[in-house]
Amino acid sequence: MYSDIIADQKNKYGKRLAILGHHYQSDEIIKHTDLKGDSLELARQIEKLEAEYIVFCGVHFMAESAAIVRRDDQKVYIPDAGAGCVMANMAPAWLVDKVLTRLIAETGKKIIPLAYVNTPAAVKTVCGKHGGTVCTSANAEKMLRWAQDQGDAVLFLPDKNLALNTADKLGIPAEKRMILNVRSEGTQIDVAEARDKDLLIWPGLCAIHQRFKLSQIEKFRTEYPDCKVVVHPECPPELVRAADGAGSTSYLIKYVEEAPAGTTIVVGTETNLVLRLKEIFPDKEILPLGTSYCSNMAKITEKKLADLLQSLETASYEDVSDEIREPARIALQRMLDVCK
Ligand code: 13P
Ligand code: SF4
Repeated sequence: MYSDIIADQKNKYGKRLAILGHHYQSDEIIKHTDLKGDSLELARQIEKLEAEYIVFCGVHFMAESAAIVRRDDQKVYIPDAGAGCVMANMAPAWLVDKVLTRLIAETGKKIIPLAYVNTPAAVKTVCGKHGGTVCTSANAEKMLRWAQDQGDAVLFLPDKNLALNTADKLGIPAEKRMILNVRSEGTQIDVAEARDKDLLIWPGLCAIHQRFKLSQIEKFRTEYPDCKVVVHPECPPELVRAADGAGSTSYLIKYVEEAPAGTTIVVGTETNLVLRLKEIFPDKEILPLGTSYCSNMAKITEKKLADLLQSLETASYEDVSDEIREPARIALQRMLDVCK
């Protein structure tokens, strides 16, 4: 029934409407999307879309990022604005600003902030104002290298796992990294220690990926000695090191797609995507590393999508004040320009 309502509304609006969905959305949502992708692919598409009504099925930071880079004649909607991202909430803008300002003042170094796209708009604003930028899991290496070239040190936030995994790939030595203690409003940070570091890391994480354990990989390797293991880089570094590959949701899909028929592939990421891969590629054995659903992604339901589409003309849309939007747009645009 909700499917019919959604189909009718899509017919009614035609090309004026585009429904975008992140890979972690459930099948009941994915089947209605005009475009699906990882965070980078979706962010890249916004401006190019003919549609004036953009409905983003994902978590809030994704719709908000779309609202930052949208054209003036476009409006961005999310079926449930309460679909937050636990990790994004771990780095509030006021605290990022406070910590960064203190570090710059007390180390005397030019510190470039690099925010994972999983952050609120106001954090991207802080990055834009301090000559920094944004990255996604698909371009973290490239953007970290870029950020390193702009100053003396980089503040990577909020995902410590993505920071450490990217630092491993770039060969940034362990003694040049520091995970910041941001408790008590950042007053506990050892500035003397920070002065000597190239990479300052915010201590955030994604509970959905942190849940996976190295012992799960070891168990699969014992049971299926020829299996391949691929994980999302929000997983802890010991898992990424033990895996055959790590990358964004699109990377994981491509890995499975390109593997020869008959391959057993263990996938460590959100369960909706792993189950979809299992269904799409029956010629390969796809095994979830473990069960781990993102409850926020799951807040987007067919009913909420149908309700939104029925009231699109009057529904509230994602809006970001000009004061927040302009510097945040500069930060996001730097990423889009570097990763054309
Ligand atoms: P991707 O950019 O790889 O799609 O990941 C987004 C995300 O939130 C992963 O938890
Ligand atoms: Fe955020 Fe983790 Fe959910 Fe991705 S899977 S949206 S990082 S909570």
